[in-house]
Amino acid sequence: MNQTKIGLGMAALGRPDYINIRSNTNIDKSVEVFKAIAFKVLDESYTLGIKDFDVAPSYGLGEQFLLEWNNSRNHKDVNLSTKFGYTYVANWEIGFSGKHEIKEHSISKLNKQWEVSKAMLPNLKIYQVHSATLDSGVLTNEAVLSKLYELKQEHNLKIGITSSGTEQVKIIEVAQKINFDGDDLFDSYQVTFNIFEQSCFHILRELLAKGKTIIIKEALANGRVFKNDKFFQYESAYDYLGHLSSKYSVGTDAIALRFIIDHLEPSVILSGASNSNQLKENLKALNFELDKNEVSKLKLFAVTPHNYWKERSHLKWN
Ligand SMILES: NC(=O)c1ccc[n+]([C@@H]2O[C@H](COP(=O)([O-])OP(=O)(O)OC[C@H]3O[C@@H](n4cnc5c(N)ncnc54)[C@H](OP(=O)(O)O)[C@@H]3O)[C@@H](O)[C@H]2O)c1
Repeated sequence: MNQTKIGLGMAALGRPDYINIRSNTNIDKSVEVFKAIAFKVLDESYTLGIKDFDVAPSYGLGEQFLLEWNNSRNHKDVNLSTKFGYTYVANWEIGFSGKHEIKEHSISKLNKQWEVSKAMLPNLKIYQVHSATLDSGVLTNEAVLSKLYELKQEHNLKIGITSSGTEQVKIIEVAQKINFDGDDLFDSYQVTFNIFEQSCFHILRELLAKGKTIIIKEALANGRVFKNDKFFQYESAYDYLGHLSSKYSVGTDAIALRFIIDHLEPSVILSGASNSNQLKENLKALNFELDKNEVSKLKLFAVTPHNYWKERSHLKWN
């Protein structure tokens, strides 16, 4: 039986601006409104059976919202994950024109961010290197790797990486070899995988066979799976997704999520829902199954990692 769970990612819930493909961005972006929506979506998620929640220090007030929610609800059966390596610098300024998050994979950044994130213990179960890359040197930084291993042992945490970009496979290959006296450092991999970006399929299946936790992010290609005139190259994918949506009476999001469940069978797929309605629509992915032919047809819509990530780099934050 398929064991894939849907989790909730906080990237769109903790800060006013994020990648948005939709045209209607005319919403109240005050901290109070965002906090109320975040709490509502967190509570509804829990009620609807979601137990996995993912955040990062760079998701604006996301860590703070999740921590407050965790402390006030006191659920004993939730798995929280967060990350180190990126810092939020947009200061809740709507339409901030610079980079919203700054990357730094140093030991001092790890120590500093851990001091904040550790407040989520004992529900904090996975601690991840945020966007590990080969060029940041994080995967060869002895001080960082040793500290992560120390945290793993001291707090019974799973240590993970998240990956993005054209080199996801290479990054995972390097990360999976890192061990301390034969004990793998990394037990969890948070990776981008969706209808258009399927390059990690084989390596993720291998990791699953080894018992590693595989968490899928950007399962909806940041919203690009929804029919959109700006992305004419996906026209045939949109037509087929539309056909499957009608057949199963669910939205495109549920079809795109179900493709990942039926094809890859990861441990968790993160919903990036920014409100309750999206959450409920996303969860419909758990109520039906695609047949083998449908999965095979959807596999054909993958584009090259080069094209996928080039397009991703041009998506606007608003
Ligand atoms: N490097 C990393 O570690 C990293 C990077 C990215 C994401 N993540 C994690 O993965 C999670 C999910 O990724 P993601 O949010 O970036 O990408 P995603 O799941 O591919 O896209 C989510 C977006 O799709 C739209 N959407 C979802 N359901 C919808 C529906 N029913 N109808 C219309 N639009 C819908 C929403 O856009 P609108 O808000 O515009 O409506 C939502 O923000 C994040 O929250 C985060 O936890 C991690």
